[in-house]
Amino acid sequence: MDKKVIVVGGASGVGAACVRSLAAAGASVVSLDLAEETGTAVAEAAGQRFLRCDTTDRDEVFSVVDQAAGNLGGLDALVHVAGILVQGPAEELTDEDWARAMDVNARGPMLTNQAAFPHLKKGERSSIANFASSAALTAYPNGAAYAASKGAVTAWTRSIAVEWAPFGIRANVIHPSAATPMLEKHRNKLSEEEKVAYDELIRQKVPLGGTFGDPDRDIAPVITFLVSDGARFMTGQNIAVNGGYYI
Ligand SMILES: NC(=O)c1ccc[n+]([C@@H]2O[C@H](COP(=O)([O-])OP(=O)(O)OC[C@H]3O[C@@H](n4cnc5c(N)ncnc54)[C@H](O)[C@@H]3O)[C@@H](O)[C@H]2O)c1
Repeated sequence: MDKKVIVVGGASGVGAACVRSLAAAGASVVSLDLAEETGTAVAEAAGQRFLRCDTTDRDEVFSVVDQAAGNLGGLDALVHVAGILVQGPAEELTDEDWARAMDVNARGPMLTNQAAFPHLKKGERSSIANFASSAALTAYPNGAAYAASKGAVTAWTRSIAVEWAPFGIRANVIHPSAATPMLEKHRNKLSEEEKVAYDELIRQKVPLGGTFGDPDRDIAPVITFLVSDGARFMTGQNIAVNGGYYI
């Protein structure tokens, strides 16, 4: 696949799997992330480049995206995977919790999408894939700020899909569920009793296998397809890649 792609959040979990999958399909990738050491290791192992970027810093995002597009010699796709999990009972969430969730999960994608826009609009078949969560589509008790931030990026993506379609830019939003460091960190905070209940809930809620997906086998190939011209008639879609979680 002859595509020039920026993956945002390529150091870990699903983002790292996207770097590997896109590279294996023949794309040229620049991976961006806060985590410099692991980001570089993942990108280099896939024969690709890495640049450090904090997606909440407007000036840095615009300068690093310009640099990445320059390195690639153009830009066909931006895949924004980076996100954080913010949890806590709704009635106890602080302004800081809300701002942190919104900043990384909603304002971050807005900034990278805006920074990529002038590069993407030069091509005729460009695309954006933003990452939300099933939490944007269904209730997420103990994670209302996270759910709201993922709802925001979902609504943002639907709107730019229409606004930027005249420039040949498609935009879709992915709702994944995958075994990654993010979920492992969350599970590790639970008591032994809570872990048993949590695993049982997932067993019941996921018709396909009763477990979370594998980032490399289950999630990244869908992103590689979305970046490809095979998806050229798909835009503004909510794409749940979650084994049927919550259907
Ligand atoms: N794993 C799941 O089951 C699941 C479920 C629903 C949604 N998601 C979403 O999918 C995406 C990927 O999740 P994951 O499980 O692979 O997470 P992960 O924690 O393994 O990876 C997230 C990456 O984002 C990077 N990042 C965080 N803040 C950043 C910032 N300000 N600037 C640059 N990089 C930053 C981290 O350094 C990390 O490399 C996230 O947006 C997450 O909310 C994941």
